[in-house]
Amino acid sequence: MPFPMPPRIIVALDFADAASALALASRLDPSKCALKVGKELFTSADAGLVRELVRRGFRVFLDLKFHDIPNTAAQACAAATRLGAWMINVHASGGAAMMRAAREAVDRAALEANLPRPLLIAVTVLTSLTAADLAEVGVASTPEEQVLRLARLANACGLDGVVCSAREAAVLKRDLGRGFLLVTPGIRPTGSEVQDQARVMTPTQAIAAGADFLVVGRPIAAAADPAAALDAILASLPAGEHA
Ligand code: C5P
Repeated sequence: MPFPMPPRIIVALDFADAASALALASRLDPSKCALKVGKELFTSADAGLVRELVRRGFRVFLDLKFHDIPNTAAQACAAATRLGAWMINVHASGGAAMMRAAREAVDRAALEANLPRPLLIAVTVLTSLTAADLAEVGVASTPEEQVLRLARLANACGLDGVVCSAREAAVLKRDLGRGFLLVTPGIRPTGSEVQDQARVMTPTQAIAAGADFLVVGRPIAAAADPAAALDAILASLPAGEHA
């Protein structure tokens, strides 16, 4: 049983404490967005926060980027599934055995707990890494080649999609097909501050390039009226179904 697909916006809860995250969640409608809980918030807040967001009706992307030996990564993914996460991610560079173990563990945990099966997404190459950084850790390929290689491997291991930059979306969609989900950060509505993001796309451009889900942090979280900022982004998107 899959989760029904939520709207395409995932709001990043990039906060250091649960109270700030819950305050933003209180201003957002769970039928209009999913929420992303990352390493800082999860580490300072604990798993109770995820349970509370799920209880409030939000789909939660638990962005913990697991990367470990297959058994450990798989058990972490199973635990995230039992928390009620809607989307979970692992590093594709953890290898095929790790990704297959994670896939099996997620599916089994969902079945046993009678929960919807979460989306299992791979991180390919961190967008902070350059070709020189990859060479330093023994990867001779360019970041683009490595992204494609790892995305194909994730697909072959039964993962549901990858996190990628909107600039990589068109190539990945063409290569891997419509059903392989692309989750893209680095989104800035027209006219908003770029902040520390180096290469950004507007929501409309990212969807046109093939993105299925857009991760948006500060343009919503730091807005005077976050709900209105979210509505404006949703209104700017083309109507129609998505993967
Ligand atoms: O505030 P902003 O919209 O830049 O937040 C983007 C979110 O997406 C943050 O949580 C950031 O960590 C995450 N992210 C990113 N670039 C990546 C991967 C994740 O900005 N390549």
